[in-house]
Amino acid sequence: MSLDMSEHRVFITGGSSGIGRATAVALSQLGVSVVITGRSEERLKETIANCKGNEHGYVSLDLANHESLPQIMKEQAAKFGPFTGVFHAAGLESICPINLAKSSRIEPVFESSVWPVFSLAKALTKKSIAAMDRRVSLVTMSSVASARGQQGMSIYSASKGAIEAAVRSLAVELAPRNIRVNSIIAGAIETEMHERITTNLSEDMIEDYKRKHLLGFGSVDDIVNAAVFLLSNQSNWITGTSLVVDGGYLCK
Ligand SMILES: NC(=O)c1ccc[n+]([C@@H]2O[C@H](COP(=O)([O-])OP(=O)(O)OC[C@H]3O[C@@H](n4cnc5c(N)ncnc54)[C@H](OP(=O)(O)O)[C@@H]3O)[C@@H](O)[C@H]2O)c1
Repeated sequence: MSLDMSEHRVFITGGSSGIGRATAVALSQLGVSVVITGRSEERLKETIANCKGNEHGYVSLDLANHESLPQIMKEQAAKFGPFTGVFHAAGLESICPINLAKSSRIEPVFESSVWPVFSLAKALTKKSIAAMDRRVSLVTMSSVASARGQQGMSIYSASKGAIEAAVRSLAVELAPRNIRVNSIIAGAIETEMHERITTNLSEDMIEDYKRKHLLGFGSVDDIVNAAVFLLSNQSNWITGTSLVVDGGYLCK
């Protein structure tokens, strides 16, 4: 079955790196018009340069200012057409022993991942932002850290747990508006975030971490496939759920 998504327009956070970037490029290859955000303008431009076609946009934005998302999306929808989907891939890792936890370490994690969920969902309720002639899809990134305890991960785990809880209630609230809401629970995916997480681990610790995934570490394509599925009409009857893509991490 070939997937034609040429009628789709998707707004993506975290489009300057890793999973968000790879998903933007893959969607463009399926005919989707993408608008990406991230803080680094240079890296956003690199993503756009790798996208197929010309109908793409980027907006440099620190998600600490997430409340500006509805206005930004309105402006972009006026340029490219109302959005059929949103992929919230932005996020920030945090490895922080609890005795070092303080607002200045907690806030950046929630600012990049949790708070934007509400602004993105709110934006999709606006006629000028979301395509009204079809079922719209909001997909957010989560992690196995939401479901398993790990040393030093309480802040990150809490942020992803909050996202999954929000997804269920948003799915209930937004179904009457024809909006689906789902998350992807990812295991370790080899991206820049993964490099930063593993850079200070010994070879033995990395091997141990890898062995916890029955199928080893994942690649961005493993998540891209899940994201494309959830953003496409192929998943038209799926809402309020979390799709686990973790190489078998959680089944043990
Ligand atoms: N890689 C993994 O093993 C893994 C596993 C489970 C879940 N995840 C989740 O998957 C998502 C993508 O991760 P990744 O591995 O692709 O990470 P990544 O390569 O580090 O990319 C993170 C993205 O988030 C953006 N971002 C971070 N803070 C931001 C802020 N304050 N404002 C705006 N944009 C911000 C970054 O853009 P700028 O730097 O340009 O601002 C970048 O585009 C995250 O939610 C992560 O928690 C990843």
